[in-house]
Amino acid sequence: MARSALLNVMVQAALKAGKSLSRDFGEVQNLQVSVKGPGDFVSQADLKAQKIIRDELLKARPTYGFLGEEGEEIKGTDGAHRWIVDPLDGTTNFLHGIPMFAVSVALERNGEIVAGVVFNPATDELYTAERGGGAFLNDRRLRVASRRVLSDSVIGCGVPHLGRGNHGKFLVELRHVMGEVAGMRRLGSAALDLAYVAAGRFDGFWETDLSAWDMAAGILLVREAGGFSSDFHGGTDMLVTGSIICGNEHIQKALAEVVKRPIPSK
Ligand code: IPD
Ligand code: CA
Ligand code: CA
Repeated sequence: MARSALLNVMVQAALKAGKSLSRDFGEVQNLQVSVKGPGDFVSQADLKAQKIIRDELLKARPTYGFLGEEGEEIKGTDGAHRWIVDPLDGTTNFLHGIPMFAVSVALERNGEIVAGVVFNPATDELYTAERGGGAFLNDRRLRVASRRVLSDSVIGCGVPHLGRGNHGKFLVELRHVMGEVAGMRRLGSAALDLAYVAAGRFDGFWETDLSAWDMAAGILLVREAGGFSSDFHGGTDMLVTGSIICGNEHIQKALAEVVKRPIPSK
């Protein structure tokens, strides 16, 4: 598997931030037992990881823009390129000592994602993709699952919680989907959810109210593994609308139909 110079820069940045998160994750596990808990410590770990990534990426390409979850967007002098980064996706898992979180780094060129990296430092799983070059988990080429019907499928989703999302709408979506599928999963990291679709572990995934940094790298992984994604309007503006439904061509279509079924009348 040959990686471009740019993808190498992204991988190095993600690995370096991952190392820092790994160290802090060990500490979080100790802090769990304290009364105050690891909340502030985790915010610092998140900021530290973003600084590591931003410094690495901007050192390699000083003119590119940078959009990260933590802090103000940096507008680059090069209007065509922008990094889109979530330094820690799966913060709640991290905070609770659950080893399911990731660094997500994407490169946008003229409004299109052309490279993506998702790295879970707790499992050492590095997902990479370049437009037209395929998707990989470490050195293994990825392909979305080939199941054609929802009744055989395991489907990932996001679940709204206190202060987040539309609970009533989600319950309707869940009610419709859970009656049609072999299993439902909620990982707690949208970047990993998408990587799992790319790797054929999940047959499909849907979520709403996401941000561009949650999805940018993962959408390319799915696409380069042969999968399809749309937003809830059937278009491909996922990064703008914040909603996504994905899978192979059969599951994506079927899942979209079920997720968007109207609320049954009494
Ligand atoms: C969150 C995760 C989670 C999703 C949330 C995101 P964060 O990102 O991706 O799976 O359900 O909507 O905000 O806050 O852990 O970076
Ligand atoms: Ca996130
Ligand atoms: Ca985050």
